[in-house]
Amino acid sequence: MSKDSLTRRRFLQSTGAAAIWLPTTVKGYTANEMHALYADGTMQEDVSKWELDTPSLCVDLDALESNIAKMQSTTSQNGIASRPHAKTHKCPTIAHMQLDSGSVGICTAKISEAEAMYQHGINEILMTTTNVTTTKIRRAMTLRQSCQEFIQATDSPSNARLLSEAAQAMGIVADVVVDVDPGGHRTGITAGTPALELAQLIDQLPGLRLRGLLCYDGGSQHVKGFEKRKNQTLERLVAATNTHEQFQASGLTTEVFSGGGTGTYNIDHQTRGLTDIQVGSYVFMDAQYLGIGGEDNIEHFTDFEPALTILTTVLNDQYAGRCTTDAGAKACTINRPWAIIKGESGISYSSGSDEFGTVRYEENASRTYKVAEKIELIVSHCDPVVNLYDHMYAIRNNQVEAIWPIAARGMSA
Ligand SMILES: Cc1ncc(COP(=O)(O)O)c(C=O)c1O
Repeated sequence: MSKDSLTRRRFLQSTGAAAIWLPTTVKGYTANEMHALYADGTMQEDVSKWELDTPSLCVDLDALESNIAKMQSTTSQNGIASRPHAKTHKCPTIAHMQLDSGSVGICTAKISEAEAMYQHGINEILMTTTNVTTTKIRRAMTLRQSCQEFIQATDSPSNARLLSEAAQAMGIVADVVVDVDPGGHRTGITAGTPALELAQLIDQLPGLRLRGLLCYDGGSQHVKGFEKRKNQTLERLVAATNTHEQFQASGLTTEVFSGGGTGTYNIDHQTRGLTDIQVGSYVFMDAQYLGIGGEDNIEHFTDFEPALTILTTVLNDQYAGRCTTDAGAKACTINRPWAIIKGESGISYSSGSDEFGTVRYEENASRTYKVAEKIELIVSHCDPVVNLYDHMYAIRNNQVEAIWPIAARGMSA
Protein backbone atom coordinates (compact mmCIF):
# COMPACT_ATOMS: atom_id res chain seq x y z
CA MET A 1 0.00 0.00 0.00
CA SER A 2 1.39 3.43 -0.89
CA LYS A 3 2.41 5.94 1.74
CA ASP A 4 -0.38 8.27 0.59
CA SER A 5 -3.15 5.71 0.92
CA LEU A 6 -1.86 4.61 4.33
CA THR A 7 -1.90 8.18 5.51
CA ARG A 8 -5.41 8.62 4.11
CA ARG A 9 -6.61 5.42 5.82
CA ARG A 10 -5.24 6.54 9.16
CA PHE A 11 -6.87 9.91 8.70
CA LEU A 12 -10.24 8.35 7.91
CA GLN A 13 -9.96 6.01 10.89
CA SER A 14 -9.03 8.82 13.23
CA THR A 15 -11.91 10.99 12.03
CA GLY A 16 -14.42 8.16 12.19
CA ALA A 17 -15.14 8.56 8.50
CA ALA A 18 -17.49 5.58 8.31
CA ALA A 19 -20.16 8.05 7.33
CA ILE A 20 -18.66 8.70 3.87
CA TRP A 21 -21.64 8.78 1.49
CA LEU A 22 -21.54 6.68 -1.65
CA PRO A 23 -24.30 6.83 -4.23
CA THR A 24 -26.06 3.48 -4.43
CA THR A 25 -29.39 4.23 -6.09
CA VAL A 26 -28.06 4.78 -9.60
CA LYS A 27 -26.71 1.71 -11.38
CA GLY A 28 -24.64 3.59 -13.92
CA TYR A 29 -23.48 2.41 -17.34
CA THR A 30 -20.12 2.86 -19.00
CA ALA A 31 -19.95 3.70 -22.70
CA ASN A 32 -18.89 0.08 -23.44
CA GLU A 33 -21.87 -1.30 -21.53
CA MET A 34 -24.16 1.07 -23.41
CA HIS A 35 -22.74 -0.08 -26.75
CA ALA A 36 -23.32 -3.70 -25.73
CA LEU A 37 -26.94 -2.91 -24.85
CA TYR A 38 -27.38 -1.26 -28.24
CA ALA A 39 -25.40 -3.85 -30.25
CA ASP A 40 -28.28 -4.78 -32.56
CA GLY A 41 -29.51 -1.21 -33.05
CA THR A 42 -32.25 -1.22 -30.41
CA MET A 43 -31.85 -0.57 -26.70
CA GLN A 44 -32.11 -3.85 -24.79
CA GLU A 45 -32.88 -2.17 -21.45
CA ASP A 46 -34.54 1.02 -20.28
CA VAL A 47 -31.69 3.30 -19.37
CA SER A 48 -32.25 6.80 -18.01
CA LYS A 49 -29.85 9.44 -19.24
CA TRP A 50 -29.03 10.09 -15.58
CA GLU A 51 -27.40 6.65 -15.45
CA LEU A 52 -24.86 7.43 -18.17
CA ASP A 53 -21.22 7.67 -17.28
CA THR A 54 -19.95 11.23 -17.62
CA PRO A 55 -19.00 13.42 -19.30
CA SER A 56 -21.36 12.31 -22.04
CA LEU A 57 -23.00 14.05 -24.98
CA CYS A 58 -26.77 13.78 -25.37
CA VAL A 59 -29.23 14.92 -28.01
CA ASP A 60 -32.87 15.30 -27.10
CA LEU A 61 -34.86 13.73 -29.93
CA ASP A 62 -38.06 15.72 -29.47
CA ALA A 63 -36.09 18.97 -29.63
CA LEU A 64 -33.96 17.82 -32.57
CA GLU A 65 -36.98 16.67 -34.58
CA SER A 66 -38.85 19.86 -33.80
CA ASN A 67 -35.86 21.97 -34.94
CA ILE A 68 -35.58 20.08 -38.22
CA ALA A 69 -39.34 20.34 -38.82
CA LYS A 70 -39.37 24.06 -38.00
CA MET A 71 -36.52 24.78 -40.40
CA GLN A 72 -38.25 22.79 -43.11
CA SER A 73 -41.62 24.52 -42.65
CA THR A 74 -40.03 27.99 -42.52
CA THR A 75 -37.93 27.48 -45.62
CA SER A 76 -40.82 26.06 -47.61
CA GLN A 77 -43.08 28.94 -46.54
CA ASN A 78 -40.35 31.36 -47.61
CA GLY A 79 -39.83 29.66 -50.96
CA ILE A 80 -36.18 28.75 -50.34
CA ALA A 81 -34.43 25.41 -49.77
CA SER A 82 -32.14 24.28 -46.96
CA ARG A 83 -28.73 22.69 -47.45
CA PRO A 84 -27.72 22.13 -43.81
CA HIS A 85 -24.07 22.27 -42.82
CA ALA A 86 -22.89 18.89 -41.51
CA LYS A 87 -19.85 20.51 -39.85
CA THR A 88 -22.21 21.17 -36.94
CA HIS A 89 -23.21 17.58 -36.17
CA LYS A 90 -20.70 15.42 -38.09
CA CYS A 91 -23.30 12.69 -37.72
CA PRO A 92 -24.69 10.83 -40.76
CA THR A 93 -27.88 9.87 -38.90
CA ILE A 94 -28.75 13.54 -38.49
CA ALA A 95 -27.75 14.32 -42.08
CA HIS A 96 -30.18 11.63 -43.26
CA MET A 97 -32.94 13.11 -41.08
CA GLN A 98 -32.34 16.53 -42.66
CA LEU A 99 -32.42 15.11 -46.19
CA ASP A 100 -35.56 13.09 -45.38
CA SER A 101 -37.24 16.29 -44.20
CA GLY A 102 -36.68 17.88 -47.63
CA SER A 103 -33.23 19.49 -47.57
CA VAL A 104 -31.66 19.61 -51.03
CA GLY A 105 -28.28 18.40 -49.80
CA ILE A 106 -25.76 18.92 -47.04
CA CYS A 107 -22.60 21.02 -46.81
CA THR A 108 -19.24 19.98 -45.43
CA ALA A 109 -16.30 22.12 -44.39
CA LYS A 110 -13.56 19.52 -44.87
CA ILE A 111 -12.86 16.84 -47.46
CA SER A 112 -12.59 14.21 -44.72
CA GLU A 113 -16.09 15.19 -43.52
CA ALA A 114 -17.38 14.85 -47.07
CA GLU A 115 -15.76 11.40 -47.41
CA ALA A 116 -17.29 10.27 -44.11
CA MET A 117 -20.76 11.44 -45.15
CA TYR A 118 -20.46 9.73 -48.52
CA GLN A 119 -19.35 6.49 -46.85
CA HIS A 120 -22.59 6.68 -44.87
CA GLY A 121 -24.83 6.91 -47.90
CA ILE A 122 -25.04 10.65 -48.51
CA ASN A 123 -24.52 11.83 -52.08
CA GLU A 124 -25.70 15.44 -52.21
CA ILE A 125 -22.65 17.19 -50.76
CA LEU A 126 -21.51 20.79 -51.25
CA MET A 127 -18.01 21.34 -49.94
CA THR A 128 -17.98 24.99 -48.91
CA THR A 129 -14.22 25.25 -48.34
CA THR A 130 -11.69 25.50 -51.15
CA ASN A 131 -9.14 22.69 -51.43
CA VAL A 132 -5.76 24.15 -52.35
CA THR A 133 -3.13 21.43 -51.96
CA THR A 134 -2.44 18.67 -54.47
CA THR A 135 -3.36 16.05 -51.86
CA LYS A 136 -6.72 17.57 -51.05
CA ILE A 137 -7.57 18.38 -54.66
CA ARG A 138 -6.84 14.74 -55.53
CA ARG A 139 -9.05 13.56 -52.66
CA ALA A 140 -11.87 15.87 -53.72
CA MET A 141 -11.73 14.72 -57.30
CA THR A 142 -11.51 11.07 -56.22
CA LEU A 143 -14.66 11.58 -54.18
CA ARG A 144 -16.34 13.27 -57.15
CA GLN A 145 -15.46 10.24 -59.30
CA SER A 146 -17.87 8.08 -57.29
CA CYS A 147 -20.14 10.71 -55.74
CA GLN A 148 -22.07 12.21 -58.65
CA GLU A 149 -23.66 14.96 -56.54
CA PHE A 150 -20.44 16.29 -55.01
CA ILE A 151 -19.91 20.01 -55.62
CA GLN A 152 -16.65 21.77 -54.75
CA ALA A 153 -16.19 25.48 -53.94
CA THR A 154 -13.38 27.38 -55.63
CA ASP A 155 -12.30 30.99 -55.25
CA SER A 156 -9.42 31.70 -57.62
CA PRO A 157 -8.48 31.14 -61.27
CA SER A 158 -5.33 29.19 -60.30
CA ASN A 159 -7.33 26.88 -58.04
CA ALA A 160 -9.95 26.34 -60.76
CA ARG A 161 -7.20 25.36 -63.22
CA LEU A 162 -5.73 22.86 -60.72
CA LEU A 163 -9.18 21.35 -60.12
CA SER A 164 -9.80 21.07 -63.83
CA GLU A 165 -6.44 19.34 -64.45
CA ALA A 166 -7.06 16.88 -61.60
CA ALA A 167 -10.57 16.16 -62.84
CA GLN A 168 -9.34 15.62 -66.40
CA ALA A 169 -6.61 13.28 -65.17
CA MET A 170 -9.35 11.17 -63.59
CA GLY A 171 -11.52 11.31 -66.66
CA ILE A 172 -14.33 13.28 -65.01
CA VAL A 173 -16.00 16.68 -65.27
CA ALA A 174 -16.30 18.03 -61.74
CA ASP A 175 -19.05 20.32 -60.46
CA VAL A 176 -17.96 23.58 -58.85
CA VAL A 177 -19.42 26.77 -57.41
CA VAL A 178 -17.65 30.10 -57.13
CA ASP A 179 -17.18 31.15 -53.49
CA VAL A 180 -17.88 34.90 -53.30
CA ASP A 181 -16.57 36.98 -50.36
CA PRO A 182 -19.36 38.87 -48.55
CA GLY A 183 -16.78 41.40 -47.31
CA GLY A 184 -15.18 39.58 -44.37
CA HIS A 185 -12.19 38.46 -46.49
CA ARG A 186 -12.12 35.03 -44.84
CA THR A 187 -12.58 33.09 -48.05
CA GLY A 188 -14.01 33.73 -51.47
CA ILE A 189 -13.25 35.93 -54.44
CA THR A 190 -14.35 39.56 -54.66
CA ALA A 191 -17.90 39.99 -55.95
CA GLY A 192 -18.50 41.57 -59.36
CA THR A 193 -15.94 41.37 -62.17
CA PRO A 194 -13.38 39.08 -60.41
CA ALA A 195 -16.11 36.53 -59.57
CA LEU A 196 -17.65 36.83 -63.04
CA GLU A 197 -14.30 36.29 -64.74
CA LEU A 198 -13.66 33.24 -62.57
CA ALA A 199 -17.07 31.83 -63.51
CA GLN A 200 -16.34 32.46 -67.21
CA LEU A 201 -12.99 30.70 -66.88
CA ILE A 202 -14.65 27.70 -65.18
CA ASP A 203 -17.16 27.60 -67.98
CA GLN A 204 -14.28 27.21 -70.45
CA LEU A 205 -12.18 24.70 -68.49
CA PRO A 206 -12.58 21.16 -69.84
CA GLY A 207 -12.55 19.42 -66.42
CA LEU A 208 -15.13 21.62 -64.70
CA ARG A 209 -18.87 22.30 -64.80
CA LEU A 210 -20.11 25.55 -63.25
CA ARG A 211 -23.15 25.11 -60.99
CA GLY A 212 -23.41 28.64 -59.56
CA LEU A 213 -22.04 30.44 -56.51
CA LEU A 214 -22.03 30.54 -52.74
CA CYS A 215 -21.67 33.48 -50.40
CA TYR A 216 -21.69 32.76 -46.66
CA ASP A 217 -21.95 35.82 -44.46
CA GLY A 218 -20.55 34.40 -41.21
CA GLY A 219 -19.96 37.88 -39.79
CA SER A 220 -23.69 38.57 -39.53
CA GLN A 221 -24.94 35.32 -37.98
CA HIS A 222 -24.38 36.28 -34.34
CA VAL A 223 -25.21 39.98 -34.56
CA LYS A 224 -27.41 40.71 -31.53
CA GLY A 225 -30.82 42.13 -32.37
CA PHE A 226 -32.99 40.91 -35.23
CA GLU A 227 -33.31 44.23 -37.09
CA LYS A 228 -29.61 44.97 -36.90
CA ARG A 229 -28.76 41.46 -38.09
CA LYS A 230 -31.28 41.67 -40.89
CA ASN A 231 -30.08 45.05 -42.16
CA GLN A 232 -26.44 44.01 -42.02
CA THR A 233 -26.77 40.70 -43.83
CA LEU A 234 -29.14 41.96 -46.52
CA GLU A 235 -26.73 44.79 -47.25
CA ARG A 236 -23.71 42.50 -47.32
CA LEU A 237 -25.39 40.10 -49.74
CA VAL A 238 -26.21 42.82 -52.32
CA ALA A 239 -22.87 42.45 -54.10
CA ALA A 240 -23.34 38.66 -54.38
CA THR A 241 -26.87 39.15 -55.73
CA ASN A 242 -25.52 41.52 -58.36
CA THR A 243 -22.84 38.98 -59.21
CA HIS A 244 -25.46 36.24 -59.51
CA GLU A 245 -27.35 38.45 -61.93
CA GLN A 246 -24.15 39.17 -63.89
CA PHE A 247 -23.68 35.38 -64.19
CA GLN A 248 -27.26 35.13 -65.52
CA ALA A 249 -26.80 37.99 -67.96
CA SER A 250 -23.66 36.30 -69.31
CA GLY A 251 -25.52 33.05 -69.89
CA LEU A 252 -23.66 31.19 -67.13
CA THR A 253 -25.25 28.50 -64.96
CA THR A 254 -26.74 29.94 -61.80
CA GLU A 255 -28.79 27.03 -60.46
CA VAL A 256 -27.03 27.20 -57.06
CA PHE A 257 -26.83 30.44 -55.07
CA SER A 258 -26.17 29.20 -51.57
CA GLY A 259 -25.53 31.13 -48.34
CA GLY A 260 -27.00 32.06 -44.99
CA GLY A 261 -27.00 30.38 -41.60
CA THR A 262 -29.00 29.88 -38.44
CA GLY A 263 -28.89 33.54 -37.36
CA THR A 264 -30.35 34.70 -40.67
CA TYR A 265 -32.51 31.66 -41.54
CA ASN A 266 -35.71 33.77 -41.61
CA ILE A 267 -34.05 36.71 -43.39
CA ASP A 268 -32.07 35.09 -46.22
CA HIS A 269 -35.06 34.51 -48.51
CA GLN A 270 -35.16 38.30 -48.91
CA THR A 271 -31.81 38.15 -50.73
CA ARG A 272 -32.91 38.06 -54.35
CA GLY A 273 -31.96 34.85 -56.14
CA LEU A 274 -30.65 32.92 -53.10
CA THR A 275 -31.62 29.29 -53.68
CA ASP A 276 -30.73 27.64 -50.37
CA ILE A 277 -29.48 28.31 -46.85
CA GLN A 278 -26.52 26.49 -45.29
CA VAL A 279 -27.95 26.38 -41.78
CA GLY A 280 -25.92 24.45 -39.24
CA SER A 281 -26.42 25.22 -35.55
CA TYR A 282 -30.24 25.26 -35.63
CA VAL A 283 -30.36 21.45 -35.19
CA PHE A 284 -28.78 21.69 -31.73
CA MET A 285 -28.71 25.36 -30.72
CA ASP A 286 -26.15 26.54 -28.17
CA ALA A 287 -25.42 29.29 -25.63
CA GLN A 288 -23.81 31.45 -28.34
CA TYR A 289 -26.96 31.49 -30.43
CA LEU A 290 -29.40 31.77 -27.51
CA GLY A 291 -28.04 35.26 -26.79
CA ILE A 292 -28.55 36.87 -30.21
CA GLY A 293 -32.26 37.59 -29.85
CA GLY A 294 -34.96 36.64 -32.32
CA GLU A 295 -37.64 38.38 -34.34
CA ASP A 296 -40.22 37.96 -31.55
CA ASN A 297 -37.95 37.95 -28.51
CA ILE A 298 -35.39 40.76 -28.34
CA GLU A 299 -33.19 39.10 -25.71
CA HIS A 300 -33.36 35.39 -26.50
CA PHE A 301 -33.29 33.49 -29.77
CA THR A 302 -35.99 30.94 -29.00
CA ASP A 303 -36.91 29.89 -32.55
CA PHE A 304 -35.15 26.54 -32.02
CA GLU A 305 -34.87 24.39 -28.91
CA PRO A 306 -31.57 23.57 -27.21
CA ALA A 307 -31.20 19.88 -28.09
CA LEU A 308 -27.54 19.16 -27.37
CA THR A 309 -26.41 18.76 -23.77
CA ILE A 310 -23.45 17.46 -21.80
CA LEU A 311 -24.00 15.43 -18.66
CA THR A 312 -21.42 15.95 -15.95
CA THR A 313 -20.95 14.67 -12.38
CA VAL A 314 -20.13 16.68 -9.25
CA LEU A 315 -16.72 15.64 -7.88
CA ASN A 316 -16.37 18.00 -4.93
CA ASP A 317 -18.95 19.98 -2.93
CA GLN A 318 -16.86 20.84 0.11
CA TYR A 319 -16.37 24.55 -0.43
CA ALA A 320 -18.84 27.37 0.01
CA GLY A 321 -20.31 28.98 -3.05
CA ARG A 322 -19.10 26.40 -5.55
CA CYS A 323 -18.70 22.79 -6.58
CA THR A 324 -16.40 21.05 -9.04
CA THR A 325 -17.47 18.69 -11.85
CA ASP A 326 -15.81 16.26 -14.25
CA ALA A 327 -16.51 18.27 -17.44
CA GLY A 328 -13.81 20.85 -18.16
CA ALA A 329 -12.32 22.16 -21.38
CA LYS A 330 -11.83 18.66 -22.83
CA ALA A 331 -15.55 17.95 -22.50
CA CYS A 332 -17.04 21.42 -23.07
CA THR A 333 -14.37 23.53 -24.90
CA ILE A 334 -13.37 26.98 -23.67
CA ASN A 335 -15.74 28.81 -26.00
CA ARG A 336 -17.74 31.71 -24.56
CA PRO A 337 -20.30 32.30 -23.35
CA TRP A 338 -19.82 29.30 -21.09
CA ALA A 339 -22.23 26.37 -21.07
CA ILE A 340 -25.55 26.96 -19.31
CA ILE A 341 -26.94 24.69 -16.58
CA LYS A 342 -30.24 23.50 -18.00
CA GLY A 343 -33.36 24.37 -16.05
CA GLU A 344 -31.63 26.28 -13.24
CA SER A 345 -31.07 29.93 -12.44
CA GLY A 346 -28.53 31.85 -10.41
CA ILE A 347 -25.85 29.21 -11.07
CA SER A 348 -22.99 29.70 -13.51
CA TYR A 349 -20.72 27.13 -15.11
CA SER A 350 -17.20 27.49 -16.48
CA SER A 351 -14.88 24.98 -18.10
CA GLY A 352 -11.54 26.76 -18.31
CA SER A 353 -9.70 23.97 -16.51
CA ASP A 354 -8.73 20.93 -18.62
CA GLU A 355 -10.47 18.23 -16.60
CA PHE A 356 -12.76 20.13 -14.22
CA GLY A 357 -15.81 22.31 -14.52
CA THR A 358 -16.65 24.94 -11.93
CA VAL A 359 -20.17 25.61 -10.71
CA ARG A 360 -20.67 28.88 -8.83
CA TYR A 361 -23.77 29.77 -6.86
CA GLU A 362 -25.07 33.30 -6.88
CA GLU A 363 -27.22 34.66 -4.04
CA ASN A 364 -30.42 33.67 -5.84
CA ALA A 365 -29.21 30.19 -6.87
CA SER A 366 -32.14 27.86 -7.53
CA ARG A 367 -30.36 24.97 -5.81
CA THR A 368 -27.01 23.47 -4.80
CA TYR A 369 -25.43 20.11 -5.75
CA LYS A 370 -23.93 17.25 -3.80
CA VAL A 371 -21.03 14.97 -4.70
CA ALA A 372 -21.94 12.36 -7.38
CA GLU A 373 -25.03 14.29 -8.48
CA LYS A 374 -25.36 14.89 -12.22
CA ILE A 375 -25.79 18.22 -13.97
CA GLU A 376 -27.04 18.82 -17.52
CA LEU A 377 -25.39 21.58 -19.55
CA ILE A 378 -26.57 23.36 -22.69
CA VAL A 379 -23.38 23.51 -24.76
CA SER A 380 -21.50 26.73 -25.36
CA HIS A 381 -20.88 26.26 -29.10
CA CYS A 382 -22.19 23.10 -30.69
CA ASP A 383 -19.68 22.48 -33.52
CA PRO A 384 -16.46 22.14 -31.50
CA VAL A 385 -18.25 20.31 -28.66
CA VAL A 386 -19.51 17.60 -31.02
CA ASN A 387 -15.94 17.17 -32.24
CA LEU A 388 -14.90 16.05 -28.73
CA TYR A 389 -17.09 12.93 -28.62
CA ASP A 390 -17.17 9.63 -30.52
CA HIS A 391 -20.92 9.25 -30.17
CA MET A 392 -23.98 10.98 -28.84
CA TYR A 393 -26.80 9.42 -26.89
CA ALA A 394 -30.20 10.02 -28.50
CA ILE A 395 -32.65 10.69 -25.67
CA ARG A 396 -36.45 10.78 -25.55
CA ASN A 397 -38.32 11.54 -22.33
CA ASN A 398 -35.04 11.18 -20.46
CA GLN A 399 -34.54 7.59 -21.72
CA VAL A 400 -31.73 6.53 -24.05
CA GLU A 401 -33.29 5.53 -27.37
CA ALA A 402 -30.18 5.14 -29.54
CA ILE A 403 -26.45 5.71 -29.78
CA TRP A 404 -25.34 7.67 -32.82
CA PRO A 405 -21.74 7.59 -34.02
CA ILE A 406 -20.23 10.99 -34.74
CA ALA A 407 -18.62 9.50 -37.82
CA ALA A 408 -16.79 12.65 -38.90
CA ARG A 409 -15.52 13.40 -35.40
CA GLY A 410 -11.92 14.66 -35.54
CA MET A 411 -12.05 14.96 -39.32
CA SER A 412 -10.53 18.37 -39.59
CA ALA A 413 -8.28 17.69 -42.57
C1 LIG B 1 -19.64 28.20 -44.96
C2 LIG B 1 -20.58 28.04 -43.83
N1 LIG B 1 -21.89 27.84 -44.09
C3 LIG B 1 -22.80 27.67 -43.09
C4 LIG B 1 -22.41 27.68 -41.76
C5 LIG B 1 -23.47 27.39 -40.71
O1 LIG B 1 -23.65 28.40 -39.84
P1 LIG B 1 -24.62 28.29 -38.56
O2 LIG B 1 -24.10 27.25 -37.66
O3 LIG B 1 -24.48 29.65 -38.01
O4 LIG B 1 -25.97 27.99 -39.07
C6 LIG B 1 -21.08 27.92 -41.44
C7 LIG B 1 -20.67 28.02 -40.03
O5 LIG B 1 -19.66 28.52 -39.65
C8 LIG B 1 -20.14 28.09 -42.49
O6 LIG B 1 -18.83 28.29 -42.24
